Amino acid sequence: MAAAASQISISETFDSLIRSLAVAITARFPLSPSMTKKRILSGIQTTGNLHLGNYLGAIRNWVELQDDYDCFLFLADLHAITVPHDPKLLADNTYKVAAAYLACGIDPERSTVFVQSHISAHSELAWLFNCITPLNWLERMIQFKEKAVKQGENVSVGLLDYPVLQSADILLYEPDVVPVGEDQKQHIELTRDIAVRLNHQFGRKKEPVLKVPDALIRSDGARVMSLTDGTKKMSKSDPSELSRIEIGDTPELIKKKIKKCKTDPMRGLEFDNPERPECNNLLTLYMLLSGKEKAAVAAECADMGWGQFKPLLTETAIAALQPIQEKYQTLMDDRTYLESVLKQGNEKATLIANKTLAKVKQVLGYAKPL
Ligand code: TRP
Repeated sequence: MAAAASQISISETFDSLIRSLAVAITARFPLSPSMTKKRILSGIQTTGNLHLGNYLGAIRNWVELQDDYDCFLFLADLHAITVPHDPKLLADNTYKVAAAYLACGIDPERSTVFVQSHISAHSELAWLFNCITPLNWLERMIQFKEKAVKQGENVSVGLLDYPVLQSADILLYEPDVVPVGEDQKQHIELTRDIAVRLNHQFGRKKEPVLKVPDALIRSDGARVMSLTDGTKKMSKSDPSELSRIEIGDTPELIKKKIKKCKTDPMRGLEFDNPERPECNNLLTLYMLLSGKEKAAVAAECADMGWGQFKPLLTETAIAALQPIQEKYQTLMDDRTYLESVLKQGNEKATLIANKTLAKVKQVLGYAKPL
């Protein structure tokens, strides 16, 4: 009996010793987020100004994900030249989108923010992928087909190749999930197909070369549609500026755009009526910008007419954007700070990207760089 009792007390002492050691070690050497958290990667093409669709549909989401994920968020400036572009604006657009990320709440202390064109591994891996991707996988991409129609004769190889570069963007960083809008689902599937194909052709069974990520598509349907056509996505490439509210729009401009936006002649306002896409979109915008619950918005607006609702939406949009715009201006006036954030992000991203690229080159059979 006595022996058993003393054994228990020894093992208890031992346990408590281990426990205090563990506490001391984690306090002294905190695990980096990349060791404890799942990783996400996403980006936005740096063409033109960001609009409410980018903010409400993507960036705001990332801001929330920062708490639980190790976030890699980049500026897709190589993708930006898949449409005709002005060299005088290209660099500035990168800084504008970077400032918009931070102004919307991306925290460079927690998230890695970087520039696609500064990390040559993106282009290089895209080339390697080009050579294992069947052409017909790209020809059936919906986004390509839609954009190609708009560009007519001038469609570049780059536009067709857009999703291969996107696959390289993603697979370089071995993310667990890729948060994107519904419209990017097909590109993430292609990314997975490329990874699986490369693993199958060049990997060993037990040791896949590339990690196959999942798409993270929000099911709460925060799709922001055009102000001039409630069935089309709000988009930078829509020729009509009235179709979108940009993050930098002045209060007067916001007022004008909402005043002119498309509505319908029906009485009362409601969500989810397929015959009233504009009504659903405007109520959704109000819901997202005000932070109110859907049921509360439905009840608040059920008996409203457009004449009463539009000023309410205008006021809400102006108020929601004001703090972002102030922060954005401060950031745009401090290029040195923005540069330091991107430099730090580029350095961290480069290390990871080069590691994956080296692994792929090795399995493809390239000689080691001398
Ligand atoms: N195609 C995305 C868009 O429409 C931009 C993008 C490029 C992207 N590469 C990516 C998104 C990788 C997520 C992951 O804006």
